[in-house]
Amino acid sequence: MPTTIDVFAKARDFDRAELLRAVREAGALPYFRELTGPAGPVVEMEGAERVMLGSNNYLGLTGDERVKQGARDALERYGTGLTGSRLLNGTIPLHLELERELAEWMGVEEALVFTTGHQANVGTLGTILAPGDTVVADSGDHASILDGCLLSRAKLRPFRHNRLDKLAKQLERAAQDGGGVLVVVDGVFSMEGDVAALPAICEAAERHGARVMVDEAHAAGVLGARGAGTAELFGVEDRVDLRMGTFSKSLASCGGFIAGPHDVIEYLRLQSRAFLFTASAVPAAVGAALAALRIVRSPEGPQLMARVLDNARYLRDGLQALGLKVVEHAVSSPEVDVATERAASSPKGDVSERYPSRRSSPCSSRTTGRPRCCGRRSTTPASTSTSPCTRPCPPAAPSCAPA
Ligand SMILES: Cc1ncc(COP(=O)(O)O)c(C=O)c1O
Repeated sequence: MPTTIDVFAKARDFDRAELLRAVREAGALPYFRELTGPAGPVVEMEGAERVMLGSNNYLGLTGDERVKQGARDALERYGTGLTGSRLLNGTIPLHLELERELAEWMGVEEALVFTTGHQANVGTLGTILAPGDTVVADSGDHASILDGCLLSRAKLRPFRHNRLDKLAKQLERAAQDGGGVLVVVDGVFSMEGDVAALPAICEAAERHGARVMVDEAHAAGVLGARGAGTAELFGVEDRVDLRMGTFSKSLASCGGFIAGPHDVIEYLRLQSRAFLFTASAVPAAVGAALAALRIVRSPEGPQLMARVLDNARYLRDGLQALGLKVVEHAVSSPEVDVATERAASSPKGDVSERYPSRRSSPCSSRTTGRPRCCGRRSTTPASTSTSPCTRPCPPAAPSCAPA
């Protein structure tokens, strides 16, 4: 008998679509707005000038002439696309140079470049973890981390965001699960803007014989003397086993990497489906990332990074002065987390009224989104950016409720 259930019914009955339609009709939808000019602190959006609240262009390098030249040279030499995977016809000398320089930057044996940062997480976690293993993940981790964990079919033991007591409990349980254990955290949490307590996390993992992986997407190019991220900032580079990063933020391009010991990277190179079964990034993206990385690692890098954090501080102070509640974190990051409730003394109303391109989460179960703003190098006052929720909606991941 044929099924009476239409697999497309969920698309028709998707209540958020209705909600978004209503918001769009009211002219208040912050998503999928059309940008008609280059990325920058102020952008042209649908014919009007807008303060950009949705970018991770921390170092402002997307418009840097050297980075653009890196992209142009790669385009001229290798063409518009590689039309194949890294495994077959998609590896060019730029990939190998980039991998060498990334490994040097991170102070590890090897690095592997993926087409996106999302694929770097999915392709690493989905490969290095297997059924029988356990992964202990912060509930604030990026969606791509969760996706990789779910893909691996390892046992997922999430813990409440940045709660070391919960991490310790989950590690105790994980030790009884009978397989290998990996702790995976964001270095800088993409929505909250706080920084993982890496020394304590490493210590807890070591006590339980677990490995540690850190997603440095928002920290690479910003934190640490070399800009190598939170592991460097906290002096625990030798205690973090795998470090992931993207090119889509400080490195002004598109792509991602995983860095670590030779045997693990080689295994991923040969086994990771998200690496093997997708087209290699376009040459221009690789050339731009390499040029940006060279700027970050040049004597200019530390100045750019200091400016980002100064601007984040400037932004935080400015928002506070306007009466907005800004969440304070012990360690500075480029992100500024604004609590959604209006501060009692706020004379000017909620942040959403004044930052038109502010984004609230399209998939958050909260009724109000939480704006997260970023300090960036390009301007003073700092440019601000807010991001949509990077986590799957709760119904999509019922197994990820934190301990
Ligand atoms: C913490 C974190 N990890 C991974 C990613 C995925 O990186 P990409 O955008 O390069 O795919 C992002 C992107 O937003 C991120 O914020």
